[in-house]
Amino acid sequence: MTNGVVDNTIALECIDLKKSYNEGPCNVDVLKGISFQLHKGEFVAVIGNSGSGKTTLLHMIGGLDTPSSGHVKVNGQDFSALTDHQRGNVRNQHVGIVYQFHHLLTEFSALENVAMPLMLRKSESVKSAEQRARDMLGRVGLSHRVDHKPSELSGGERQRVAIARALVTKPSVVLADEPTGNLDVHTAKEIQQLMVELNQDLGISFLIVTHDLGLAGQVGRVLKMEDGQLLEIEHPGQ
Ligand SMILES: Nc1ncnc2c1ncn2[C@@H]1O[C@H](COP(=O)(O)OP(=O)(O)OP(=O)(O)O)[C@@H](O)[C@H]1O
Ligand SMILES: [Mg+2]
Repeated sequence: MTNGVVDNTIALECIDLKKSYNEGPCNVDVLKGISFQLHKGEFVAVIGNSGSGKTTLLHMIGGLDTPSSGHVKVNGQDFSALTDHQRGNVRNQHVGIVYQFHHLLTEFSALENVAMPLMLRKSESVKSAEQRARDMLGRVGLSHRVDHKPSELSGGERQRVAIARALVTKPSVVLADEPTGNLDVHTAKEIQQLMVELNQDLGISFLIVTHDLGLAGQVGRVLKMEDGQLLEIEHPGQ
């Protein structure tokens, strides 16, 4: 596995991103000044020990939490310069996120969860959104579970719904936090293959947190989270 066609366009940029948790008795400096660029078409793995701050980083980029300082730019647009509404639109258009814990909407079916980011776009009809959601659920092997709610799905199936939801909009950037962590080897390989195809065919950039050194060893570039910094390494394990 390598990168798709990489060009010089910067899809995602973090500039001196810092995050400290100061509530309660514990003061933890998790991110101590993260700067990196993800180019269009790149496939990048982020590795690092448990507790090193990988999920925290994705939450800052994905907007589940705000950084203590620093900047996140998507397609050149600085999140801190946008209103909440504008930021939401940029995310909807350009970023797909697979969270470590799936964050599906419990009262909606798999189909509705996957169609949701498309429904939020005024330009998309309900029919077209549902068709695209159905197609993407098919690609993650869940055609037979479209009407199930998250509580009626297995852990791996929920993870696949979350992956379908992140990919259905064909965003510029997909951020994924151990997307295949709960899956059997065969299904994990199929999902990895799907991500590679979307990377190579559509030029979608991927930033994937993984503990799978086999996967990390196959991607174009590996970044390691260590002591609050994101270090560029050539091969996992170095
Ligand atoms: N709300 C919070 N308040 C205080 N500390 C927190 C909070 N959230 C996370 N942390 C701490 O920040 C550190 C980084 O957590 P994070 O979830 O980013 O790690 P991770 O690299 O994703 O780990 P894993 O591989 O286990 O998923 C941990 O030491 C964690 O205890
Ligand atoms: Mg994590």
